[in-house]
Amino acid sequence: MPEEKTFYITTPIYYPSNKLHVGNSYTTVAADALARFKRLTGYRVWFLTGTDEHGQKIQRQAEAAGKEPRVFVDEIVAWIKELWEELDIDYDDFIRTTEERHKEKVARIFEQFYEQGDIYKGKYEGWYCTPDEAYWTERQLVDGKCPDCGREVELISEEAYFFRMSKYAQRLIDHIEANPDFIQPPSRKNEMINNFLKPGLEDLCVSRTSFDWGIPVPFDPDHVIYVWLDALSNYITALGFGEEGSLYETFWPADVQLIGKDILRFHTIYWPIFLMALGQPLPKVVFGHGWLMLQEGKMSKSRGNAVDPRVLADRYTSDALRYYLLREIPFGQDGIFSLENFIVRINTDLANDLGNLVSRTLTMAERYFDGILPEPSETGHETDRDLRSLALETPAALEEYIEQLKLSDALAELWKLVRRSNKYIDENTPWDLAKDPAKKDRLGTVIYNLIESIRFIGVMLQPFMPRTPGSIWSQLGISENPDLRSWASLEQWGSVKPGTKVSREEDLFPRLNLQAEIREMQVDKTVDNGDAPAGEQEEQETLISLDQFQQVDLRVAEVVSAERIPRADKLLKVEVDLGNSDRRQVVAGIAEHYQPEELVGRRVLFVSNLKPVKLRGVLSQGMLLAATTEDGRLALTTVDRDIPSGSRVS
Ligand code: ME8
Repeated sequence: MPEEKTFYITTPIYYPSNKLHVGNSYTTVAADALARFKRLTGYRVWFLTGTDEHGQKIQRQAEAAGKEPRVFVDEIVAWIKELWEELDIDYDDFIRTTEERHKEKVARIFEQFYEQGDIYKGKYEGWYCTPDEAYWTERQLVDGKCPDCGREVELISEEAYFFRMSKYAQRLIDHIEANPDFIQPPSRKNEMINNFLKPGLEDLCVSRTSFDWGIPVPFDPDHVIYVWLDALSNYITALGFGEEGSLYETFWPADVQLIGKDILRFHTIYWPIFLMALGQPLPKVVFGHGWLMLQEGKMSKSRGNAVDPRVLADRYTSDALRYYLLREIPFGQDGIFSLENFIVRINTDLANDLGNLVSRTLTMAERYFDGILPEPSETGHETDRDLRSLALETPAALEEYIEQLKLSDALAELWKLVRRSNKYIDENTPWDLAKDPAKKDRLGTVIYNLIESIRFIGVMLQPFMPRTPGSIWSQLGISENPDLRSWASLEQWGSVKPGTKVSREEDLFPRLNLQAEIREMQVDKTVDNGDAPAGEQEEQETLISLDQFQQVDLRVAEVVSAERIPRADKLLKVEVDLGNSDRRQVVAGIAEHYQPEELVGRRVLFVSNLKPVKLRGVLSQGMLLAATTEDGRLALTTVDRDIPSGSRVS
């Protein structure tokens, strides 16, 4: 029997100190997509998440709320579980550090460390950052503040137990160097080695006495165990570490531990050292992803609805939110969360590309074949071969990206098939084929291929957007046929049966009005802030600052050449000169308003710092500015006297 492939993935366990925002959801959505992908491709998966409930920070917040810590965390944990349900987070276990199964094991781990001489008693005098639950020496502070988060630190002086970190430091350096995949992305590895390991590790304080919301040290109950030692252990206590026949034996070491870069030090220094002291193997990969920011800075609850994941999921669907989070930011890098970009992604990728593909295809299947899937014929047609080979290659490409944790690239790859399928419609113009009864066979083949391609897309979408495929199966009439949803079914083309009844039921993603969404979400935001009258606030939000305006690099550009783009009635390919040998090619939607010849030599206003895109396969590296009227007239904007190309417009 072939050996079972297993995959163990974890998220950080979150502090139930406040409701989570879209930044915390980001890690969990990514972990869920990876877990689902591995399940779909035949792995036995264990996906763990949970909450980190002890420590001074939680105790203080509970006091401030006038509640017992236990009551305080219970309420927030219930909210977090609802959030995960709403975002379709399909975890296998949710660990709370206040559970007996965890506490009892952490106490035993502490005892073992003490007995083997890794922990000794002493006195801690130094600084403590309560929001991060982190110790700092005087030397490490930056301007007297926490070097990680910049907040106030407190001087503490108390009897404490210490862990001999220094004893394991060299072994850890050796491990990191011998296992280049251990800390990812690779840039984070050097940061850990150079900033923390090379300067020499100090022994870590692992108990506190000035509050009691924690796991008591079993042999000295005036002390509670340091919350990070307590929390990090969750990854093994949840598997039943130390118990015979437990999941620990099947799943440890973890394949991927996903965290945000803020807690890398705890996961790539303390955690591996604790594991070494326990004589256990280290996780295969600790991946520190980037930071999701708002344009105005860090996220916080007070910044309003635009960062409340439950509001976003309710309004735009959890599939759209998951897609945006996974697609927008290359996994590992920092990125900006913006409502505007979110809506644009919904309108372009989801409504235009995916939604239209499905609705156009089904409308045609109903119109031309009464919704009965026709029999395809083998024609050797080039576009058929192209579509089929791309569909058959895409699953392996996705697997490769997922192996490297490149979630955004995986989705981009899948969207190539979505776009190729749309292009297939444009190339084959079924509406023309339908006019000629002699072309009925060809029309049937085109519709069949589109349906099969949509099925391929649906199968591959499942890990990223768990709900949308359900609607696809229902519209393709294959809800009752699980074989057609399996990864194995993508090994060959043509599995969906001719004669299947398909029907157009709903638009997967209706288009949204960008301005209206921004307005409405901002009106809601004032409710949260409560510090400015709604009208005033709304007005402020729609105005932009000079800085924002100056982010657009506007230039005078001279048109050097212009030509039509085959099969694109509205587009011209235009080459412009920006001076200093800077030439750019742009695709402009002006073909119905200008003849190519009349443009050459004109000086027009040009946006020169737009991200390049491909339109109809043609690269576009900027934008010509034009004025338009409601009834569709258009005029390019020009300069009213002679001025060199490349001059800045401001
Ligand atoms: O640190 N962008 O919990 P925590 C991206 N309890 N990810 C973000 C984010 C943002 N703006 N904000 C938060 C703790 N995160 C400890 C962990 S593990 C043994 C103990 C994510 O509630 C990111 O994954 O402060 C980060 O590491 C985590 O939330 C921190 O969550």
